[in-house]
Amino acid sequence: MDMPSLTIGSHTARLPIIQGGMAVRISMAPLAGAVAAAGGVGLIAGSGLGVDELVSEIRAARDRAAGGVLGVNIMVAVTKFRELVRAAMAEGIDLVVAGAGFSRDVFAWGREFGVPVVPIVGSARVARLAEKFGASAVIVEGFEAGGHLGTDRPMLELLPEIVAAVQIPVIGAGGVATGADIKRVLDLGAAGVQMGSRFAATVESSAPEAFKRMYVEARDEDIVLIKSPVGLPGRALRNPFWERTQRGDYPQIERCRACLKECHKEYCIINELEMAQRGDVTDGLVFAGSVAARITDVPTVADLMKRLESEWRIAMQGEDR
Ligand SMILES: Cc1cc2nc3c(=O)[nH]c(=O)nc-3n(C[C@H](O)[C@H](O)[C@H](O)COP(=O)(O)O)c2cc1C
Repeated sequence: MDMPSLTIGSHTARLPIIQGGMAVRISMAPLAGAVAAAGGVGLIAGSGLGVDELVSEIRAARDRAAGGVLGVNIMVAVTKFRELVRAAMAEGIDLVVAGAGFSRDVFAWGREFGVPVVPIVGSARVARLAEKFGASAVIVEGFEAGGHLGTDRPMLELLPEIVAAVQIPVIGAGGVATGADIKRVLDLGAAGVQMGSRFAATVESSAPEAFKRMYVEARDEDIVLIKSPVGLPGRALRNPFWERTQRGDYPQIERCRACLKECHKEYCIINELEMAQRGDVTDGLVFAGSVAARITDVPTVADLMKRLESEWRIAMQGEDR
């Protein structure tokens, strides 16, 4: 028994698994390329990168992807959204995922370059709007997810409403770490899943060792919400930086790079995410989903994908009995 494949636009991945884009510099060419080569959809996170860096990551990922499906994830909230999306499209990326906000323009660019656009949505209303504007699929991200959160509802509750609201493929994101989780999401009518945290703790992820170790050691009580200057809450791991923010003690912004279209400027989120990516998991911001509490190892992407397939098979057989 094989897992169903996932088709978005004219691209088909052998497995219905998208590796979520993770900024800043967590999901880069090594991770996205390995996921695509293993049969999933690999996403490079473009938010916080310059155009040249994004283009070189796309080329490096292509070299590793063995012809698999590769996309970019760019947050609508970033100032360089237009520049980054159009550069990725001109480079021949297979698909573009747009998170943290809604853009009408991105669908027009998708038509211009012939690239499928997949927005991240948190309600049936926005999913319908995305379909009307020309989305090739939508990703429904629930409250369990790591990173910025656009809803306070769990994915498994939101998913059936969105599956009923649109004709395009719907992908469930948030709280998925195992093959049994994947089966639960597909059973509700999803065409696939998007997983972030599970892939952040793999060998090919560009997160530093200390970041991956925090995931492996995290317990339920270590998973917290944090106010993001983007204007949305974010899900992260408890650390001294988070403790500081709870006292209203935010690190001063030393140099504003005007990276967000709208920033509440409590602290510099790009700086905090970059610090964590460089290995400072004490003073940096470590985004993580609630599934971090269930992650106990750092496998290679190839091993993880095999494990997900076999767990999915066991869950399917359990149902047959
Ligand atoms: C470290 C980290 C960084 C993330 N960065 C982004 C991002 O740049 N853009 C985005 O749309 N989603 C981002 N996400 C969300 C993921 O793409 C994905 O949807 C989410 O992690 C799914 O939930 P899960 O962590 O429970 O699998 C991030 C998640 C994590 C854990």
